[in-house]
Amino acid sequence: MSESICKVSDVVFVRFQLIDLEPQKEYLNHFGMILAHETEDSIFFRGTGTAPYCYVATRGEKDRYIGTAYKVNHYEELEQLSERMGVKIEHNNEPGGGKKVVLTDPDGIQIEVYHGMTLNDPIDTAETVLNTGKRKNRTNELQRFGKADSEWQVHGDKWVYELTSKVKRLGHTAINCVDGKKSMKWYSNVLGFLVSDNVITPDGQIGGAFMRCNQGDMPVDHHTLNNIQLPGERPPGDNPTFGHAGYEVTDSVDDLMAGHYHMKTVDKYYHEWGVGRHLLGSQMYDYWRDPSGFTHEHWTDGDLLDESVEPGNPAFRELVMAQYGPEVPATFGLTMPSDEVDDFRSNNPKISDMIKEVETAQLK
Ligand SMILES: [Fe+2]
Repeated sequence: MSESICKVSDVVFVRFQLIDLEPQKEYLNHFGMILAHETEDSIFFRGTGTAPYCYVATRGEKDRYIGTAYKVNHYEELEQLSERMGVKIEHNNEPGGGKKVVLTDPDGIQIEVYHGMTLNDPIDTAETVLNTGKRKNRTNELQRFGKADSEWQVHGDKWVYELTSKVKRLGHTAINCVDGKKSMKWYSNVLGFLVSDNVITPDGQIGGAFMRCNQGDMPVDHHTLNNIQLPGERPPGDNPTFGHAGYEVTDSVDDLMAGHYHMKTVDKYYHEWGVGRHLLGSQMYDYWRDPSGFTHEHWTDGDLLDESVEPGNPAFRELVMAQYGPEVPATFGLTMPSDEVDDFRSNNPKISDMIKEVETAQLK
């Protein structure tokens, strides 16, 4: 395999254009992010980790996913990208500073690659110690989260659980591609991504992959990118390429579950899918749509792989059938206004029903 132009070490943030920033600020607060910077036209939200921000939106005429930003460990990698891709190295005038190059992937997604951004001090949070049937790690100390029962407060006429998840960092994006193999090749050749698991379609073709950063013997997330070629027509709406953005929560399962009950009881947002435990990547997941219909995931306890692990070729059912959790809805991976989701779901088969059909046909 030929050497890639650079090897990105991680994803940093996702960038959107939104008509109205105020509802998104409220959503991201509920989702468990922290406003790091704000200008008249832009918002920058961070997690508890060291990235200067993990979500950026700028006011514009349309709700639009613009792209994703990654980082490299060495300035020479920006120089290589500049030379080989024919783009210039720019000074980053937004918060965080550093230098960047701006590329476009085969599906028209803007890809920014940064070096030298100033890191934040991480925000310290208490770590949960769990007792299990096999191992007792906590004695003479009561298990309490946030303000315990005081997290439940009456807002108007209903109870709201006030403790949010604590987002730590952006961990991955999922994108819908016109040509899955072409996208895989670009991310592999240009950004150095490795295949963790190929996406094998029901007819046995490679239709995309779960891809991870190549950091040699340093273990990294099972997937930093999931590029997938959806069957048939391009997805509906103005944002066919955006599947979702997945953010790791700071602590473990309780952090994810607190966020679930917070989002559920504020009762303002569409719950897309969860809570469950994926097969590919193994993380626990919970997906919520934002006011513009973009899907964001809380996740925890994902797999970490180093460069030595060869690509897997899992059956199609492993892609969407979780280890446990609700059946995957027809709208998963598609961006659409939340008030159109119910209609789409009632007019289209569930993805799990399509798998059932394929498997039943194979048995005949
Ligand atoms: Fe995800």
